[in-house]
Amino acid sequence: MQRIGVLGGMMDPIHVGHLHAARAALDAGLDRVLLAPCLTPAHRARPQAPAEDRLEMCRLAACVSDRLEASDIELRAGPCYAVDTVRLLLRRYPGARITWILGADKLPTLRRWYQADDLFALCDFYVCPRPGFDAAYPVPGARVDILSQVEIKASSGDVLKRLRALDDAEALLPREIARYIALRGLYQPDYLPDLARYGMREKRVRHTLGVRQTAVDLALRWGASMQAAAIAAMLHDIAKPLPLDQMRALAARYGLRLSREILEDGNLLHGPVAAAIAEHELGVSNGAVLSAIACHTTGKAGMRTLDKVLFIADAIEPNRADYPGLSEMRRLAKTDLDAAVLLSMRRTKEYVLSRGLRFCSQTETAIRDLEKQKEETK
Ligand SMILES: [Fe+2]
Ligand SMILES: [Fe+2]
Repeated sequence: MQRIGVLGGMMDPIHVGHLHAARAALDAGLDRVLLAPCLTPAHRARPQAPAEDRLEMCRLAACVSDRLEASDIELRAGPCYAVDTVRLLLRRYPGARITWILGADKLPTLRRWYQADDLFALCDFYVCPRPGFDAAYPVPGARVDILSQVEIKASSGDVLKRLRALDDAEALLPREIARYIALRGLYQPDYLPDLARYGMREKRVRHTLGVRQTAVDLALRWGASMQAAAIAAMLHDIAKPLPLDQMRALAARYGLRLSREILEDGNLLHGPVAAAIAEHELGVSNGAVLSAIACHTTGKAGMRTLDKVLFIADAIEPNRADYPGLSEMRRLAKTDLDAAVLLSMRRTKEYVLSRGLRFCSQTETAIRDLEKQKEETK
């Protein structure tokens, strides 16, 4: 007889707590566990991520074991009762024994679940202890076993709090899921603006999304926060559509201390101005994000990982039309981040000088600084 477990809930997002519970249920004798996000649970606030994203995250989480499986069985329109899900599963897997997996926090209300007596007759329960809840809470009529080897401490609330603070919540989220969240722009702070409000045309929006994709993967590769990289990418060009005099007015209003060469060139000035808008108008307070946005046009001495990630992501994102050095930069970005940034700056320098223009002295400083660091690490 096949034993199938169902781990339901909003999975908004799925996190290590769910996975510990699933693993413990398998260890306790189940043949397979379905990770089954629900549409909108009764009496709960609506989930923050769309159902298809929550299901996709379950698919990614299920990749770690062939006994885990993401299931859309609870993504039914209308009221979604456990008893209906169990009936559907029994039809799909005739003769199987179904076990519903839940946290100890759910036990006190279990008797009030829809058609509870029918549910108790059709399936049994595994309960995962949770701090502050009685895992042995008596539920008359229900067959309940306690998965005593796990205690679920993580909650989706904890995960969301960390993600909103632009932390990847590494201890609570499998990496692939943190990456998916950053790539899709899920669970971002409310300040992320509607880019159209900042006058961005379609082509620039496409560029921005391309930068996000590249920056998130480079952040994963080089150990920066993917969530921070995603936000920095989304905001890096918000000042770009502004006319130069308006950029200058904003630079003056927010007291930016910039050299004349930067103040005279919108191609350079839109970086620091975007950071000022992010900080003063949108309320971004993360220093690493603001720094990366501010120096994405010029670089600077002492660039940190996120600065370099955004700088090079901007240069190599997939929508960029080919230019000399692009494929080499793309290759280097994965193997030697400093070399990629250096190559990009040197190429820009060649290009600027070939047109008889002056090269930005802040970028010159950044180049010297990166060269020095490279010497020192040799
Ligand atoms: Fe830019
Ligand atoms: Fe850009």
